[in-house]
Amino acid sequence: MMERFLPEKEEGYVVAVVGATGAVGQVMLEILAERKFPIAKVIPVASSRSAGSTVSFNGKDVVVQDLATFEPEGVDIALFSAGGGTSKEHAPRFAEAGCYVVDNSSAWRMDEEIALVVPEVNPEALEMARYNRIIANPNCSTIQMVVALKPLHDAVPIERVNVSTYQAVSGAGGVAIEELAKQTGALLNGQSAEVEVFPARIAFNVIPQIDVFMEDGYTKEERKMMDETVKIMGADIAVTATAVRVPVFYGHSEAVNITFGGDMDADRARDLLADADGICVVDDPATEDYAMPSEAAGSDPVWISRIRNDNSSRNSLHLWVVADNVRKGAALNAVQIAEILIR
Ligand code: A2P
Repeated sequence: MMERFLPEKEEGYVVAVVGATGAVGQVMLEILAERKFPIAKVIPVASSRSAGSTVSFNGKDVVVQDLATFEPEGVDIALFSAGGGTSKEHAPRFAEAGCYVVDNSSAWRMDEEIALVVPEVNPEALEMARYNRIIANPNCSTIQMVVALKPLHDAVPIERVNVSTYQAVSGAGGVAIEELAKQTGALLNGQSAEVEVFPARIAFNVIPQIDVFMEDGYTKEERKMMDETVKIMGADIAVTATAVRVPVFYGHSEAVNITFGGDMDADRARDLLADADGICVVDDPATEDYAMPSEAAGSDPVWISRIRNDNSSRNSLHLWVVADNVRKGAALNAVQIAEILIR
């Protein structure tokens, strides 16, 4: 049993959502209400552009505060999803005011002093946050993959993972959701598609680039998956990734190939995954039953399908892993971390 992070408060906790007008922030508010997080007061915070407007929480309109002038004193927990630069600048002053920050950006993830947490995988890492009060929420594609890897790795150590992703546009925020909708509408009406957010047209296309290219030829998104997986799993696993954007609104999919250091096969993996927290196995070739983002969107679990032996290599498996990237990949994972902080 972990010692409590925050004292028990009968009246509930003061929770700020920074980036409350964004794609992830909105869902953070929804999930806090849905899971009946004990709340004394919720404070939506965003930029000066939306300060003074309202967002809905539990059926009520709540006025958005301006982050630049917001004083965090008295806030128990702040869920940040307003970009890396905003987190770097403002998370430390929230933490110094005594608030626990759960940050969805990549600003702190690889900082050795900062916990990078997926509750089903490494809740014990939260201990680090007692001193610095900042906790990093991992990259969306990483979260769903490590939830799938953990029960398998606990049974037989994983040596290598090779993953290809099929990532929804919502991972790039509200403007990216709009871009797919607008381009699709324009092209279906015989007009040309304007490209603003993604490096190329996303409607009726797939783009083998997410984030910027690094010197070694990987993209930053791929690098995040490789580095964060090792940090969260706390194991020396060789990870390689290809991250691809697809014209899907919500729900990331991943084709994951795993090599184990000992005996493992598809039947055993299926049993281990079926018993694990946060996972639903849907895998029946006879009825053509498998997970897809169209069905995973709006749901909480990590869905796993196509569990099969890799016939080209010993002790190797293929999995198909799907999750709602805005929920388990971001907002839900952050709220689950907040739930541990108040337990
Ligand atoms: P705003 O609506 O005021 O621009 P998304 O991920 O959907 O693009 O949303 C980004 C979120 O982060 C929005 O809530 C946005 O607020 C917020 N945001 C972006 N930049 C800042 C900033 N400099 N200060 C505070 N909030 C910011």
